[in-house]
Amino acid sequence: MIESAFKGICGSSPEVVVHAPGRVNLIGEHTDYNDGFVLPAAIDRFIEFAGRRRADRTVRVHSTDFQDSTEFSLDDIQKDSEHRWSNYLRGVSKFLESDGHKLTGADIVFGGNVPRESGLSSSAAVEVAATTFWQRLMGFKLDPVYVVKLSRRAENEFVGVPCGIMDQFISALGRAEHALFLDCRDLSYRHVPLRGDVKVIVCNTGIKRALAQSEYEVRLKQCNQAVAQLKTVGLAIKNLRDVDPEDLDTASDALSEILLRRARHVVTENARVLEAVKVLEEGDLERFGELMNASHESLRDDYEVSSKELDVLVELAWKQPGTLGARMTGAGFGGCTVNLVRADAADAFAEAVSRGYQETLSMKAEIYVCRASDGALATPAAGP
Ligand code: GLA
Repeated sequence: MIESAFKGICGSSPEVVVHAPGRVNLIGEHTDYNDGFVLPAAIDRFIEFAGRRRADRTVRVHSTDFQDSTEFSLDDIQKDSEHRWSNYLRGVSKFLESDGHKLTGADIVFGGNVPRESGLSSSAAVEVAATTFWQRLMGFKLDPVYVVKLSRRAENEFVGVPCGIMDQFISALGRAEHALFLDCRDLSYRHVPLRGDVKVIVCNTGIKRALAQSEYEVRLKQCNQAVAQLKTVGLAIKNLRDVDPEDLDTASDALSEILLRRARHVVTENARVLEAVKVLEEGDLERFGELMNASHESLRDDYEVSSKELDVLVELAWKQPGTLGARMTGAGFGGCTVNLVRADAADAFAEAVSRGYQETLSMKAEIYVCRASDGALATPAAGP
């Protein structure tokens, strides 16, 4: 697909083609920026980059999704408010160069099928694909975790979105048929097999995450405030990752009602991820599903990042035969839900949930039955 677009636009075959997947988070929401635990999977929706070197220092780039082109010089990489879609590539290119990885100009065409602004991390996929593209085009040998961190840095410091590390990590290092259990403090991880007799189904509310960024920043601040206040009553903690549920009960008087609820979400969510990994490895999918459901309730009631549309989709899912668990996924305020459904019930699930959503809210939900996929650095085409 992207090769033929490249040929059409640039008149020859690309030298390098790479792709990076979007992701769905099974459990562990709003824990990554608290040094906590997450369990995402890469999905079979990808951003693809095709390109070739140029002899100068110009990067000419075309987005097949936006049907738009722009160019920039590697000697003066600025944010572009007219072609915002190019900022991920600009940021990645800038930080590679400033880290001493010298680039040449390039002709690039990119695009893909990760739904945008839907909580499935299309921007992380663009960043990771861009970094992987440069790595392959220039023949760099980059440490995979460096690729992840640089991609995230483009989002944090260039685009200006204060996200955690989960999305870039899974887009780079996901594995087919597996979820990835990541400790966001020391970045140790392991892949956990997903069994074939269940499907991961994503339901898209169709609501773009309008409030997501500002509310995300508020949550981030509230978590830091909670840590500061818990320290004043003698808890020896660096951040919410270090608080266990009993400590929080004992120290609850130190926190305002709202900060207590925010902290309680993070603290209980971390505990849920640890249990979820254990029961997934033991094959206890029923318990895994219960933990997903509890995660949704906590995000809805304590962290307050759900929305009417997300709640409707989750409640519809909970009623379907064969549903093991359902919850909102990603930052919240719109975007998608993730559902673990017995394989033989998947078709009926998709049909019933989209009908129910139409009947309840007169809205159309897109439903994707996902396969857990390889991350950008796991695919032979993208490896160093
Ligand atoms: C967004 C961020 C992630 C993470 C999730 C919430 O996807 O990019 O880093 O914080 O929200 O779990």
